[in-house]
Amino acid sequence: MPPSFDVRLDDLTGARAESREATQDSDSNPVGSTSELRVNPSELRVDKSPTRHSPAKAARRAGSQHHGDGAWSTHPVLGDERTFYIETFGCQMNVHDSEKVAGVLLGRGYQQVETVDAAKLVFYNTCSIREKAAQKVFSRLGEFRKHPDHGKVIGVLGCVAQQEGEEIFERAPWVSLVCGSASYSKLPTLLAQLEAGNRRVTGLDTDTDETFETEMTRRDNPFRAYLTIIEGCDKSCSYCVVPYTRGPERSRSSASVLEEVRKLAGAGYSEIQLLGQTVNSYRDPAPRGKTFAELLVTVAAVPGIRRVRFTTSHPRDFGRDIVEAIDSVPALCDHVHLPVQSGSTRVLRAMQRTYTREEYLEKIALIRSARRPISVTSDIIVGFPGETEQDVAETLSLLDAAQYDGVFAFQYSPRPNTASLQMGDSIPEEEKGRRLAIVQDRQREIQVARNNELVGQTFEVLVDGASRRPGQWTGRSSSNRILNFSSPHSDLLGQYIQVRATGASPNSLVGEQII
Ligand code: 5AD
Ligand code: SF4
Repeated sequence: MPPSFDVRLDDLTGARAESREATQDSDSNPVGSTSELRVNPSELRVDKSPTRHSPAKAARRAGSQHHGDGAWSTHPVLGDERTFYIETFGCQMNVHDSEKVAGVLLGRGYQQVETVDAAKLVFYNTCSIREKAAQKVFSRLGEFRKHPDHGKVIGVLGCVAQQEGEEIFERAPWVSLVCGSASYSKLPTLLAQLEAGNRRVTGLDTDTDETFETEMTRRDNPFRAYLTIIEGCDKSCSYCVVPYTRGPERSRSSASVLEEVRKLAGAGYSEIQLLGQTVNSYRDPAPRGKTFAELLVTVAAVPGIRRVRFTTSHPRDFGRDIVEAIDSVPALCDHVHLPVQSGSTRVLRAMQRTYTREEYLEKIALIRSARRPISVTSDIIVGFPGETEQDVAETLSLLDAAQYDGVFAFQYSPRPNTASLQMGDSIPEEEKGRRLAIVQDRQREIQVARNNELVGQTFEVLVDGASRRPGQWTGRSSSNRILNFSSPHSDLLGQYIQVRATGASPNSLVGEQII
C-alpha cells in the first residue's frame, strides 16, 4: 500500500498485506525484490501459520473418492457446521473487505479457521486488476475438481465475482456463492439463504448506493486498523476494471467514520489507515460535510490516535489543503501514494488519467514545498497500447524529477469491460518485461541514493514485527519506511520507539534503537 518500500513484514507474518493503490494486487512488482529484505522471512516469528489450500487433504480425511463432474449436481449444504476460511487476493481494500466479511460471519456464530482443510465454508476474495491476479482464483477452484467429495461450501467474493458473475458457476459448478464487492451489504441475506439450504446464491448488483458497514470487523493487524471511507470509483482510466467491479463512488459519512475511529482508539489501535480507490475524492454525504483534508485533521485529533495514513490518492483531486493538513498535524503521516501511471502526456491522455505530465509534476512540487519532508510513492504501467520508446524515456525522466521513495510498476494487462481493450495489446510481453526492468532499475538507483541520505537520521518507528534472531525487530516510520533494527529490549511489539538508521538498501533501512 501503497507503496510499500519493501516486501512487508505483514505479508510475511500473515498479519495482512499492506496496500498500494487500494487496487494493487499481490503480483505487483515493488522496486527491489525480496532479496532486498533485511529481515529474512525464515527468521520471522510467524504469528499465524501460513494458510494452506488443501482440498485434497480434506477429501482424504473425509474418505472421499472422485465421482466425476456429475457429482457437482449435489452441492454440500452449510447446515450447522459453522467454520470458515477466507483467502484474500489483491489490494488493501480487499484485505479490509475480508476483515468485514469475517466480522459478519463471526457475528453469525461462525468460527474462523486457518486452513481450507478445517473449514466448512471456504471464501475466496478475489482481485481482477490484472489477468494474472484473476487467474489465481480459478487455480484455487480447480483444485476442488479433483476432490468432489470435499464437503465444503465454496464462495467467490470480490472483483472476479463481479466480473465473471454467474459464469463462475459454469466454470466451477461446485461454487455455491458469487458476490461482488458492491453487494457485500447483502451478504447476511445470502448467508441466510445458504444456511437454509440454497445451493446457489448471487449478489452482483453494482447500482447500490450503500457502503459496506458491519456491526463487527475482525481486524487482522493488531496495530494498524484499516477503515474504508469511500468505495467504488468514478474515474474512468481506460485500462482499469475497478469502476466496473466496484461500482460508482460512495462515501461514508464523516460522523460514522469518526465514530469508528473512536471505537478503534478505545480498542487500543493507535494507527488508522483510511482507504479508498481514490481516497481523496472523498465527499462527506452529510450537509455541510467535511472535506477530505478536514476529515484527516479530525481523525488525527481523536484521543489515542498517533498516526493516520490514507491511500490511494488521485492526482486530480490532490490539493494544497491536504499538504497543509499534513504540515500542521504531526499525527498525519508524511507519506502520499500518488500514482502517475506514465510520464508521457500522450499516454496519460490515452489512459484517460485527466492530467498531463506537467500538471502531475506540479502536484509533486506542491508536496515538496511542505515544511516537513513528505515521502511520495507511485504506480506505473509499462506497455500500454501504443507506448513508444520515447514514452518510456519520458517515464524514466519523470522518475528522476519526482524522486519517489517507492514505485510499484506493472506490465499492462488488457482487462474485460475497459475502454483500452479496444486499443489492442500492441506491445509484446517480452518487450513489456524489458520496459518494466528498465523502470525498476532506474527507480532502484533513485531509492539507493535517497535511502543512503537517510543514514544517520532518527525515525520514530511503530514496531510491528520481531525477528527470530534475538534482539532484531522491524517497524515502520511515519513515512512508511521499513526499519529493521536491533534493540536490547524485549516486548517492543506495538510500541513507538526512536531508531537511528545505520545502513540502507533500496527498500528498507537498518538501524538501532536509541536508548
Ligand atoms: N494492467 C496493468 N496494471 C494495472 N493497474 C490497474 N489496471 C491495470 C492493468 N489493466 C495498476 C495501476 C494501478 C495499480 C493498482 O494497478 O498502476 O495504480
Ligand atoms: Fe482504476 Fe483509475 Fe479508479 Fe484508480 S482512479 S481505481 S486506476 S479507474
